[in-house]
Amino acid sequence: MIMKILISLPLVLIILYKLWSYLNKKYFILCLCKRVRALDGSPLESRIYIPPSKTPFGNNFDLLDFTPASVFKFMRDAALQAKGRSYLWYFFGTPMYNIVRAEDAEEVFQSSKLITKNVIYDLLKPLLGEGLLTSTDQKWHSRRKTLTPAFHLSVLQSFLNIFKEECKKLVKILHQNPGEELVLNQLIPQFTLNNMCETVLGIKLDDIEEGFQYRQSIHALEEVMLQRIANPLMYNIVYFYLFGDYRKHVDNLKTALDFSSRIIEERRKLFQHKDDVGKRQRYAMLDTLLAAEAEGQIDHQGICDEVNTFMFAAYDTTSTCLIFSLLMLALREDVQERCFEEVLHLPQDHDEASMLQFNELFYLECVIKESLRMLPSIPVIGRKVTEECVVNGLIMPRNTQINLHIYDIMRDPRHFPDPESFQPDRFLTENTTNRHRFGFVPFSAGKRSCIGQKFAILEMKVLLAAILRSFRILPVTTLQSLTFETGIGLRTQQDVKVKLQLRE
Ligand code: HEM
Repeated sequence: MIMKILISLPLVLIILYKLWSYLNKKYFILCLCKRVRALDGSPLESRIYIPPSKTPFGNNFDLLDFTPASVFKFMRDAALQAKGRSYLWYFFGTPMYNIVRAEDAEEVFQSSKLITKNVIYDLLKPLLGEGLLTSTDQKWHSRRKTLTPAFHLSVLQSFLNIFKEECKKLVKILHQNPGEELVLNQLIPQFTLNNMCETVLGIKLDDIEEGFQYRQSIHALEEVMLQRIANPLMYNIVYFYLFGDYRKHVDNLKTALDFSSRIIEERRKLFQHKDDVGKRQRYAMLDTLLAAEAEGQIDHQGICDEVNTFMFAAYDTTSTCLIFSLLMLALREDVQERCFEEVLHLPQDHDEASMLQFNELFYLECVIKESLRMLPSIPVIGRKVTEECVVNGLIMPRNTQINLHIYDIMRDPRHFPDPESFQPDRFLTENTTNRHRFGFVPFSAGKRSCIGQKFAILEMKVLLAAILRSFRILPVTTLQSLTFETGIGLRTQQDVKVKLQLRE
């Protein structure tokens, strides 16, 4: 008996080894997922870079216990190693296709099927529910259609006054302590959150008691998200409950959701007396949602999801871009002087400036775009393959995650020579004609591109013009002193500071 087993054991082992080899070609067995393959049968390595992993279990254990700063560095190192090619990671249950070139991004941006967001967005769902940013398929289509009119030019025109008022408040604060160091990370988010509360909800945050707690809760929720993003184990709710800041998450979530829900209820009462609304209330985006509710297109939960989505998608992105634009203006005196000369064309009284006049601040817009190119508010966005499909000649199994690394795409030296240098002239019309369509994508592109792009540019121009007009911006922080971090958005470990000097 023992002899029989001893004789047949090598045979069994050979069969098992053959079976393993056969299956492992199609499946990454130790990662419990199907492999990505080239459509034409060529070796995958000839089509895409496959970084070495630390263990036989794919890249699962390469990413544990990371900090937000090391996640940022990990991604930049991966792009560097890939030498301009897109690259592939494997995690348990899912391959992850990382795109760092405009040419590879094109097919994803243009696809009408690849519109479902990936696993990272699940972390946002407790706050955003099934809002425009996180939803997919039919729900997303119908919401996008409902909300598009809320960004029409005529609506932006009415928001311009809100931006100017908030701007006046901020510039008044700046006048109080000229010459002192300004911590932009403290000052600017207050401005953009106030703008959002008024344009989305129709309320002045400074005027209500809970305004301060709301601001605090949004900030705290972001801190917890940052912690979860840096550690894939924290995506698991049980692990997060046991080892993460679960309590902080739940408490602040309640504050933020209760706040917006209450404001919605109040606005609904006003909306139901439409005549009064027309006479006394400014339009807010919430009104578009309440009108859709009256027609049975959306319910209370849907309205809450959309409102929370707008607040979240808009306030941090614009403040990050403003912070980096002000930093770059401080660091580049020549660029700042050119912008200053341009804003002198606006009427002396800022209140008089029209939307057309802000639209004509072409060079200031180039500065904003170059800041977004070098330091995009959202450095990476994600999609999920919901049905096996072919992307860039690669067969992507169902559940493959796709990361579009906007940060790396916009630093491609083929499209932006000398990508590390700040050159707003790249965006002058004559310099953009031959650029790849998907080379500059800070607002994403295609169907799921940012709905608030024009809103954001206008809001940022109004503030930058007001600051440039009154003050000379002097440098304190240097780019080299900053450690960048990847959360949902791009951020820095250190505060970004500048000094302001009153202009004569
Ligand atoms: C500098 C400012 C901004 C930047 C850089 C930015 C960037 C982006 C990006 C990259 C996306 C795509 C996200 C993805 O695919 O996962 C996006 C989507 C979105 N943004 Fe913005 N955004 C900005 C300002 C705003 C503003 C001001 C609003 C609203 C007033 C807004 C509302 C949204 C919404 C609702 C979506 C989801 C759109 C959809 O999927 O249909 N964003 N934004």
